[in-house]
Amino acid sequence: MSKPSTIAIDGPAACGKTTVGKLLAKKMGYRFVDTGAMYRALTWEALRLGVDIEDEDALGSLAARTKMEFPPDGDDGIIVNGRYINSELRRPEIDFGVSPVAKVADVRKVLVRNQRLMAKDGNIVMVGRDIGTNVLLDADLKVYLDVSVEEQARRRYKEMVEQGEKADYEDILASLVRRDRIDSKRSVNPLRKAEDAHVINTDLLDVNGVLGEILKLTGEC
Ligand code: CDP
Repeated sequence: MSKPSTIAIDGPAACGKTTVGKLLAKKMGYRFVDTGAMYRALTWEALRLGVDIEDEDALGSLAARTKMEFPPDGDDGIIVNGRYINSELRRPEIDFGVSPVAKVADVRKVLVRNQRLMAKDGNIVMVGRDIGTNVLLDADLKVYLDVSVEEQARRRYKEMVEQGEKADYEDILASLVRRDRIDSKRSVNPLRKAEDAHVINTDLLDVNGVLGEILKLTGEC
């Protein structure tokens, strides 16, 4: 089996795809692209400029005139129209606004086009919701990370507490359920497993456990 050059990882919120994807990319010497950060960055720009997140036309035109760049690998931030943002991407108002923004067809058109350009030379691990089903239909390896809602909420809660943020388990659970519902019910490129994806349930696996399962699929170990 030859080593997969394009690797797509999808899954619901807090399934661990970003952490695992980053480690996998490092291990394989590939570029890592977190497409969720792009939807979050656009949401941040919309809120900063006072664009109504229910106004689909305004969001579509904002996406078309917004320039996004990823800093060199290893940096979690993103540069949006020349401004560097990082921890802002995870604020509660972004968690609240991002799924309504991400369901807009014209927004997805622009972001997906850029994602495909980033992947055109291969050697990439790309994570998101629609990578295996839409962005990189021909990816060499597709992985879908599954997780129960309770485990999702536990992980997000722990993350927030570790970062010294105020966290309420029930609020976190409600916000995750709402976001996954919008993401999987939207008409354009909803969150779902690709038929040819390898499904890994992450409930009982830690990060290294998930990474090990994916590395087996890549033939690296
Ligand atoms: O990190 P977490 O799993 O909580 O979310 P994320 O990957 O940062 O994605 C944030 C949001 O962006 C999701 O809830 C989706 O609404 C949207 N998204 C999307 O629609 N398509 C993608 N390929 C990636 C993210």
